[in-house]
Amino acid sequence: MLTSLLPLLGFGFCLSGSHAQSSTSQAPAPGATPTGNYAGALRPQVHFSPPQGFMNDPNGMFVDANGTWHLYYQYNPTALVAGNQHWGHATSKDLYTWTNQPIALYPPNNTSGIFSGSAVIDTNNTSGFFNNSKTGVVAIYTLNTPTEQTQEIAYSYDGGYTFQPYARNPVLRIGSNQFRDPKVIWYQDHWVMVVAYSVDFTIGIYTSPNLKDWSFASNFTNHGLLGLQYECPNLVQMPIKGTTDSAWVMYISINPGAPLGGSTGQYFVGNFNGTHFTTFDNAARLPDFGKDNYAGQWFYGTKAGEDPVSIAWASNWQYTNVVPTGSEGWRSIMSLPRRNYLDKATRIGWVLASEPYDLSPILGSTLLQSANLFNNSATLDYSSVSSGAIYFRANITYPSTLAFSASTPATLNFTFSSSASGECMQGGYFFSSDNAGAVWVDRSTVKGFQNPFFTDKFSLTQAGPPLATVIEGVIDRSVMEVFIDNGHFSSTSVFYPKEKLDQMFIGTGGLAEGMKVEIGVWGLKGTWK
Ligand SMILES: *[C@@H]1O[C@H](CO)[C@@H](O)[C@H](O)[C@H]1NC(C)=O
Ligand SMILES: *[C@@H]1O[C@H](CO)[C@@H](O)[C@H](O)[C@H]1NC(C)=O
Ligand SMILES: *[C@@H]1O[C@H](CO)[C@@H](O)[C@H](O)[C@H]1NC(C)=O
Ligand SMILES: *[C@@H]1O[C@H](CO)[C@@H](O)[C@H](O)[C@H]1NC(C)=O
Ligand SMILES: *[C@@H]1O[C@H](CO)[C@@H](O)[C@H](O)[C@H]1NC(C)=O
Ligand SMILES: *[C@@H]1O[C@H](CO)[C@@H](O)[C@H](O)[C@H]1NC(C)=O
Ligand SMILES: *[C@@H]1O[C@H](CO)[C@@H](O)[C@H](O)[C@H]1NC(C)=O
Ligand SMILES: *[C@@H]1O[C@H](CO)[C@@H](O)[C@H](O)[C@H]1NC(C)=O
Ligand SMILES: *[C@@H]1O[C@H](CO)[C@@H](O)[C@H](O)[C@H]1NC(C)=O
Ligand SMILES: *[C@@H]1O[C@H](CO)[C@@H](O)[C@H](O)[C@H]1NC(C)=O
Ligand SMILES: *[C@@H]1O[C@H](CO)[C@@H](O)[C@H](O)[C@H]1NC(C)=O
Repeated sequence: MLTSLLPLLGFGFCLSGSHAQSSTSQAPAPGATPTGNYAGALRPQVHFSPPQGFMNDPNGMFVDANGTWHLYYQYNPTALVAGNQHWGHATSKDLYTWTNQPIALYPPNNTSGIFSGSAVIDTNNTSGFFNNSKTGVVAIYTLNTPTEQTQEIAYSYDGGYTFQPYARNPVLRIGSNQFRDPKVIWYQDHWVMVVAYSVDFTIGIYTSPNLKDWSFASNFTNHGLLGLQYECPNLVQMPIKGTTDSAWVMYISINPGAPLGGSTGQYFVGNFNGTHFTTFDNAARLPDFGKDNYAGQWFYGTKAGEDPVSIAWASNWQYTNVVPTGSEGWRSIMSLPRRNYLDKATRIGWVLASEPYDLSPILGSTLLQSANLFNNSATLDYSSVSSGAIYFRANITYPSTLAFSASTPATLNFTFSSSASGECMQGGYFFSSDNAGAVWVDRSTVKGFQNPFFTDKFSLTQAGPPLATVIEGVIDRSVMEVFIDNGHFSSTSVFYPKEKLDQMFIGTGGLAEGMKVEIGVWGLKGTWK
């Protein structure tokens, strides 16, 4: 969460009337669950969005002993722009069907804010706060005041619903106002915190036996893209596909200064030995080729042997404060929950794959199933899908000898359009026999938001992975995520149509003899009442 640059970025350059500030001057009282209207035309129906007000970074994510996923988030319950930061809270059994919970952390007064951080389950009572090994949760977060950012903790006796701040806060203070976003994990026999010295382009690694006393262990400094600030670090042990091995991922968000403008994540792959992170190849890699994927965080407490699970903020600081959902009383969406693992691609090496978490609980009616959409297309009207949310997937197989036409580009593409206005969200893939397939997403004809920073086309030409065997995506009223090859490459894009999208086209052309393209399209069941 950015402080010093917010005034600079929060200008209003919006032509679409998105300044309607319908909210609320008072935060809900402790214990009261914030409510909101999830029926708006732009409201995603299978993604998380805040009941009302403004949301940014995911925080404190953990999965408890009952298999309940807890999502906290940077929350301004009293305005539609960033500020007055609280920790909102929601819970889910499947990561799609969320129940809003009372606000978990309130700032102590109106000049301070509860900034980003993480949460752990203190099963061994290392903190001494607890009598129950399952419901003892400790949140570790930044308290922001006008002069300083300090790391504080708060503990919960009821599994993460209510918290008391530790009486001896702060637990980590260096006299800086640019020191934030602690993410804590357990490593063998101690706690490990990664925390951003934001303007020094440094991730500090600290260790602790008890979550209260922290010792400096090492710095990870000046790696990759610097932008103007480092934020929201994560250190995650990540399985390597097809092996029983794992490696470590250092994930750092930067803002502003992303290659596409504004905010983005980047990651490094390497080893962690309890105190020091060292990269394998020193390369910075980007997790997403869109512009709306920031501050990703991994859930604490996923079972050994299961893929780590992450959620990111699907927005960008360049325009988040002025997007037109303000007129519906809310701003910002979380990305789909993602399963992550490492794989290696030819030429470029490590890839952090990011696939949608099991969608089966929300899969609705089958809208299209085609065994072979070869040099052919299909159009479908999905106006009867009340959520307006769609999942599609193409499985592609190739003959052993591949000969593309020299004259016609080999492509699969898809368009979601509005029968009322003709606006459309589009994307597609170009197949190429030199293994440099290219994926693109285009939001340029969607008319509900104009802004100089709202980049309208995104693409990635793969530098070496094989031809795509899976192209899939989810579109959910005002957000679209596209995944290539089980998430080896992905993009997250918000978009703001004036009229609802209700028609889909999907087609292929110029394919090589012997290729097979199996396509399925499903409606998704809305998860908000
Ligand atoms: C607000 O709370 C912070 C953190 O406890 C404290 O440092 C600051 O003095 C308080 N400000 C006022 C005006 O009470
Ligand atoms: C903060 O609270 C003080 C004391 O209640 C009040 O005078 C002041 O107007 C408030 N400031 C803001 C920015 O709300
Ligand atoms: C709890 O203690 C057990 C036994 O010493 C140890 O194996 C485990 O890593 C500890 N876990 C946590 C989260 O403290
Ligand atoms: C946890 O530690 C505290 C402080 O040492 C102690 O009072 C409490 O009894 C411990 N809880 C359990 C279950 O041992
Ligand atoms: C833990 O148990 C001890 C002894 O029964 C009790 O004094 C203490 O209040 C309990 N603490 C909590 C947090 O429940
Ligand atoms: C699991 O659910 C039971 C029944 O609702 C509850 O008593 C228990 O506290 C929950 N456990 C956790 C870890 O939240
Ligand atoms: C770690 O980085 C911080 C922030 O730049 C710096 O203040 C500190 O001196 C560094 N520590 C070491 C041991 O290099
Ligand atoms: C961890 O790595 C650092 C840097 O390579 C090294 O100085 C330290 O001794 C290592 N610690 C352990 C426990 O291996
Ligand atoms: C999408 O595919 C169709 C069918 O092959 C083709 O006619 C059209 O030109 C393609 N559009 C783009 C933008 O690639
Ligand atoms: C598919 O389209 C390409 C390009 O137009 C063409 O070369 C090829 O013959 C077509 N395949 C079939 C089986 O029609
Ligand atoms: C594609 O492959 C997956 C995994 O084998 C399978 O579950 C799915 O039914 C296939 N077809 C489509 C259209 O997704």
